[in-house]
Amino acid sequence: MEYNFRKQIQSLGKLLLVFGLLFVVLIFGLFYLKNNPQVFEDEVEDSALEIISAAALDEETIANSGFINDEGVTQVIQNCTQCHSSKLVTQNRMSAEGWKSTILWMQETQNLWDLGTNEELIVAYLAKNYAPERKGRRENLTNLEWYEIVE
Ligand code: HEC
Repeated sequence: MEYNFRKQIQSLGKLLLVFGLLFVVLIFGLFYLKNNPQVFEDEVEDSALEIISAAALDEETIANSGFINDEGVTQVIQNCTQCHSSKLVTQNRMSAEGWKSTILWMQETQNLWDLGTNEELIVAYLAKNYAPERKGRRENLTNLEWYEIVE
């Protein structure tokens, strides 16, 4: 009886030691994760939405984007180059109405997200920098230097 009791105490002690060690490991693990939150970051967090809220882009990124550098270019790059190249955008010329309906079309059929308050800025940027080119008769030439024909 006496012997059994001691054995029980001993195994209880071992059990406590094991749990104690597990506890320490757990605490260290949590502490590590707290300081290294990127461990849990996967591709989902890298999604477009994450990129949308990013800060203004640097000059080099803008220069390489193929977009004209003007107010709103950051929002355009962040929202309009996720699915297709910038070329698909810049090769088009549209009025504000045209750009709006293209965006709406992509939202309805191509899973383009709600652009929120950026939409106005993006449409204004596109309508200004990628406006329809005027077709038709060229303007009259001005500032011509005439010369006399000497016979
Ligand atoms: C969620 C994906 C997605 C995003 C983001 C996106 N587009 Fe598109 N867009 C598409 C798809 C898909 C097409 C069709 C591509 C094709 O025809 O090969 C397209 C086509 C276009 C076209 C060509 C339309 C035509 O009639 O040929 C333009 C212009 C365009 N997008 C502009 C934009 C602009 C501006 C933005 C940013 C506001 C944008 N896209 C963002 C998916 C997207």
